[in-house]
Amino acid sequence: MSAQTIMTRILPALALLALAVPASAAPELTKPEKATTCAACHGEVGVSNIGMYPSLAGQYADYLEHSLKDYRSGARKNAIMGAQAANLTNQEIKALAAWFSAQQGPLYTPSVHGNLKP
Ligand code: HEC
Repeated sequence: MSAQTIMTRILPALALLALAVPASAAPELTKPEKATTCAACHGEVGVSNIGMYPSLAGQYADYLEHSLKDYRSGARKNAIMGAQAANLTNQEIKALAAWFSAQQGPLYTPSVHGNLKP
């Protein structure tokens, strides 16, 4: 069998394989240890049923990261969250933001998703 024949047989198979890999094949994020302390107020996966505690699930990760850093520095003032963020490292904040952002949540952006709730 010529090399060209092999390629014409293998390439379509490879293309099919690539299609068969589901979009959700991205590695699952491990729940950060510190996320358990957030659950009391923000819910187990960041979906809050209490109005005064914002939902974090599905929020943009960079927004969550920015908020946590601002609570920690005091640029965003809130006694509860200031205390929560005080001892978080940048690495922990990044991991928390990524994990909560990856959870299914009720948040949506009207300009992106239209005015109807999904
Ligand atoms: C004792 C309750 C409580 C706990 C525990 C708590 N939070 Fe909060 N969190 C709040 C409240 C209240 C607010 C709203 C504060 C404000 O108005 O700025 C808030 C706001 C936030 C926001 C801003 C959300 C937004 O939409 O602007 C983030 C991000 C956040 N919390 C992350 C966390 C993380 C991560 C943890 C765990 C490390 C945590 N919180 C633990 C009560 C809590």
